Amino acid sequence: MYTVSKLEDFSPAALDAAAEELLSALVAESQAAADSAAFVEFRNRWMARKNGLLTQVNEMWLKAAPGPAKREVGQRVNLLKQKAEALVAAAEQHAASAALNVRLRAESVDISLPGIERPLGVRHTVLRTLDELISVFVKMGYSIAEGPEVETDYYNFEALNFPPNHPARDTQDTLFVANQERKAQRDRLLLRTHTSPVQIRTMERLKPPVRVICPGKVHRNDAPDATHSPVFHQLEGLCVDTNITFGDLKGTLDHAMKSLFGSQVKTSFRPSFFPFTEPSVEVSISCPFCGGRGCRPCKQSGWIELLGAGMVDPNVFGFVDYDPKKLSGFAFGMGVERLTMMSYNVDDIQQFFYGDMRFLEQFA
Ligand code: DAH
Repeated sequence: MYTVSKLEDFSPAALDAAAEELLSALVAESQAAADSAAFVEFRNRWMARKNGLLTQVNEMWLKAAPGPAKREVGQRVNLLKQKAEALVAAAEQHAASAALNVRLRAESVDISLPGIERPLGVRHTVLRTLDELISVFVKMGYSIAEGPEVETDYYNFEALNFPPNHPARDTQDTLFVANQERKAQRDRLLLRTHTSPVQIRTMERLKPPVRVICPGKVHRNDAPDATHSPVFHQLEGLCVDTNITFGDLKGTLDHAMKSLFGSQVKTSFRPSFFPFTEPSVEVSISCPFCGGRGCRPCKQSGWIELLGAGMVDPNVFGFVDYDPKKLSGFAFGMGVERLTMMSYNVDDIQQFFYGDMRFLEQFA
C-alpha cells in the first residue's frame, strides 16, 4: 500500500516523479473503492485533515524542504493537492452512480414478460337459467321475493296446509336442525325443502293483489345421483287477485315455457296433488329436442315433465288472513337445475356441482 516517504532530492524532476507516483496510487485506490463504505474509507485515508496522506505530504515534503527549494516545492504541492481533490471528487461521483446502477439493476422489471392473467368469471349455467326465468316473469309484471333457507316447520309445512304428521310431508325428505325438540313443532328449524314458504311470507307482508316469484336454494335429504342433489334451486311463483282462474294459470305458464324453449313448444296439464293447491297439476312441455316424436331425453314419450302448479288452496289463505271468498290465485314451482338440464340436454345433475371447468366452460 502506498505511503508518503521522505524526500532526499527536491529537484523539479524528483518532485514530479514523487507526485506522479502519489497520483497513480490515488487513482488505483479510488478505482478499488467499490461501494460507498469503501469510498469513505478511501477518502479519509487520503484527505483527512489530521494525518491524511495529503497532510503528510505537507509535513514531509513542504515543511522538510530546505529554504531555497520551498517556493518550488510549495507550488508543486499545491498543484498536487488540486489534482488529488479533483480526482477524489470524480471518484465520489463514480461511486455514487455505480451504487445507483446496482440499485436500478436490482429493482428492474422485465417488461417483456407476459403479465399475470386473471380470467373473468361468468355466471354459472344454473344461475343463467334462473336469470332468464326471472326476466320472463318480470316482464309479465311479477316482482321478486326471497326468504330464509333455514326455515321453520310452520312456513315450510304447516301454513302450506301440510298438517303435522300428514303423509304429504314424507314426499319431501327433510333435513332438520338438531336439538329443536323443546320448541313447539311449528317453531322447529329445518332447511327449507322448497321455495313455497316464501308464498306465505309474501302474503303475510303484502295485501292482494300479489304477483311474485321466489327464486332460491332448497335442501333435501337425498343421496346425490344423476337426477338428485341434496342442494338445488327452485323458482316459485304466486299470483293472487280477484277472479284469477285456472285459465290464467295455463296462459301464464304456457307463455313462460314458450319464452324459454321457443314458440313451437306445447304445454300439457295433468291432475296431480300438492297440499297447498287445489286443483293441482303437473305441467309438461312437448319435447324441445324431437318436437314430440320421441327421443332419449323425453324417454320416447314426446313430453317432458317440468313443474308443479295449481290453484291456491283456500286453507292456505286462511293462514295469512286473505279472504278466500273474494280472492283466488295460482302458484307454481319448478326446479332450476332440471330446467337447465332440459335446455342443454345435460344428463347428470351432478355436473353442475363438480366445478369441472371442461363442463362449465361449454356454456360460458
Ligand atoms: N313446492 C313443490 C315442490 O317442491 C313445487 C310446487 C308445486 C310449487 C305446486 C307450487 C305449486 O307453488 O303450486 O315439489
